[in-house]
This record gives sequence, structure tokens and C-alpha cells, in this order.
Amino acid sequence: MDRPTVVTVEGLPERVTIYEVGARDGLQNEAALVPTEVKAELVTRLLDAGLPVVEATSFVHPKWVPQLADAAELMTLLGERGRDLPVLVPNERGLDRALELGCRHIAIFGSATETFAAKNLNSTLDGQFAMFEPTVRRARDAGVDVRAYVSMCFGDPWEGAVPVSQVVEVGRRLFDLGASQLSIGDTIGVGTAGHVSALVSAFVDAGLGIEALAMHFHDTYGQALANTLAALQAGVTTFDASAGGLGGCPYAKSATGNLATEDLVWFLTGLGIEHGVDLDALVATSSWLAGHLGRPSPSAVVRALATAG
Ligand code: HMG
Ligand code: MG
Repeated sequence: MDRPTVVTVEGLPERVTIYEVGARDGLQNEAALVPTEVKAELVTRLLDAGLPVVEATSFVHPKWVPQLADAAELMTLLGERGRDLPVLVPNERGLDRALELGCRHIAIFGSATETFAAKNLNSTLDGQFAMFEPTVRRARDAGVDVRAYVSMCFGDPWEGAVPVSQVVEVGRRLFDLGASQLSIGDTIGVGTAGHVSALVSAFVDAGLGIEALAMHFHDTYGQALANTLAALQAGVTTFDASAGGLGGCPYAKSATGNLATEDLVWFLTGLGIEHGVDLDALVATSSWLAGHLGRPSPSAVVRALATAG
């Protein structure tokens, strides 16, 4: 079978937006450097497969993430089409680089924990806001849309459990800097469905509209789709995913791949939820990329469809 049987479930959203992070979250973690032309083809193929949002790259310090040191070259290759794709920006220096290239969407990325703020941003939990505040203000003044990520929302490899109240406080502060969306990151994939429900309702109780929330699941413990269902039941309509299940975080070694976009597309299709993505084109793209990376995709759906004949 190349498609699941569609059986709808009452009470779930009719349509969701898939926010594709493979070219950024995926490739930032690859041991081998991927040529810029291959990245440009990846981004183009993902857009052509119907993905409505494709995060392209990061304007972080090139020594911190050498895999994405070619951000400017990539954006130049993508031309006008690239200007509407979000890019990660940690600080004013990153913003300057993105603005020079005409980028119209950026994403800042904060940490819910002290240790990860140090490891990922060379900052403290409080210090990160001083870095993001002028970055977001200047971006907004320039007419640039800002997404905010908050990481380590379900657990942290150094600190263990992270209280829901702490995640909500940090997430709220990041969002209130002037973001249009808050992406709740399970950076190391330890979240479970009940925890997702509790965290989403805590954000809603704190005044964040459900339409402003996105979920960003890594699939380390195989919980990402169960967690997606819990978030759908709470009314969330934006989900981050990575083509072929690429991914991880170079500053959180226990993070493995993101929820694979193909697995998410199969799951949503089965529930009759609209997503606008062409699964065959997406699987072909992930199989092509796996050829470049020299190893098979970890996505269950890519593997199943590739052998389904
Ligand atoms: P720092 O070393 O503290 O930076 O790094 P600094 O402000 O002290 O500056 C030092 C030098 O770096 C200066 O140059 C700056 O100009 C330069 P000098 O004056 O010495 O010649 N510099 C830059 N150069 C280029 N681009 C920049 C930049 N900033 C400073 N943007 C910094 C602080 C935040 C820059 C660093 O820690 C960094 O780049 N971190 C990024 C780490 C990263 O990308 N992690 C992965 C993404 S997060 C993630 O994957 C999680 C997510 O997927 C959600 C989830 O799963 O939870 C989003
Ligand atoms: Mg991530």
C-alpha cells in the first residue's frame, strides 16, 4: 500500500501547516559537509513537493556550526525564492547577515534551561533575552517576521526534568519580545503524550493563543507521532518536521533526528487532515538526499515505501 486508509477522528483540526526543518535542523548535525548546490536543490525540491514553509539555514557563528557556514552562499543561490524562507538568527550579528541578503523571516532560539543556554548560546538563561531583545526589535522595525523557538521543554540531558512552569515562563518571555509564533522544542525527544497535553494547556492558560503555538518533536524515543496526536487534540495546527528524519542538535548530543516529515504526512493523511504535501515527491527527495549522505533515511515511511514496490 502506498497510502493509508483515511479514517477521520472528530475534534481534530481539518488542516495543519508542516514547517520543514530538514535543511537546517537536519543538515546542521551531519558529520560530512554537504555541498551548497545540494542544499539548494534540497530546499527547492522540498518547496516543489508542496511544503509551505522550509527553513533554509542558520546565520549562527560559523565556528559553532560549520555545516551551515555557507548560509550566505545558499541564500544567494536560492535568490528571490529564498527570501521568504525562515533562517535561524541568534543575535544582531546574525540579523545583519540575514538582512543584507534580504531575508524576510527569522527564527530566534532560546533555552528553557540554564545549562543549554550556556552550551548552545554561550549565555545564561537571563542573558539570552538581552541578546534576543535588540535582535527582534530591529527585525520587526525592518518588517521581518520572527518565530521564537524554546528548547529543552520536556527534559534536558544535563538538568533532567524541566518544570512546566519554567518552560512556560521562558516561552512567554521569548514570544513577548515580538514573535508571531512559538515553537515548543522537545530537543532530545523525551516528551510523552500526557506531558505534551499538560504543557500546551499551561501555555494556553498563560494567555498564548493555540494558533501561535507550533510543536517541534525529535523522535529519539519514538514518541513523536503519539505526541503529535496529543497536540492535535489540544488544537495545535503547526508541526515542525524534517525530511527523511534527519536531525539533531550539535550542542545536545542525545538529540537524534526530528520527526520525519514523511511519517507525519502519512499520519495526517490517515486522519484525513489536509497538509498539501506530495508524499511521493517527498520520499523521492529524501531517498536522493540519503544517496548524498551515504546512509539510509531513518524514516519508517521512507523505508516502507522504498521497499513497497
Ligand atoms: P559567542 O562566541 O559568545 O559570540 O557565540 P560573541 O557575541 O562573543 O562574538 C564572538 C565573535 O563571533 C565576534 O567576532 C562576533 O562578530 C562573531 P570577532 O569580533 O571576535 O571577530 N559572531 C558571529 N559571526 C557570525 N555570525 C554570528 C555571530 N555572532 C557572533 N551570528 C553565538 C554566541 C550565539 C553566536 C554562538 O553561541 C552560536 O552561534 N550558537 C549557535 C548554536 C547553534 O546554532 N545551535 C543549533 C541551533 S538550535 C537547535 O537546533 C534547537 C532547535 O532545533 C529547537 C529544538 O530542537 O529544541 C531550534
Ligand atoms: Mg531541533
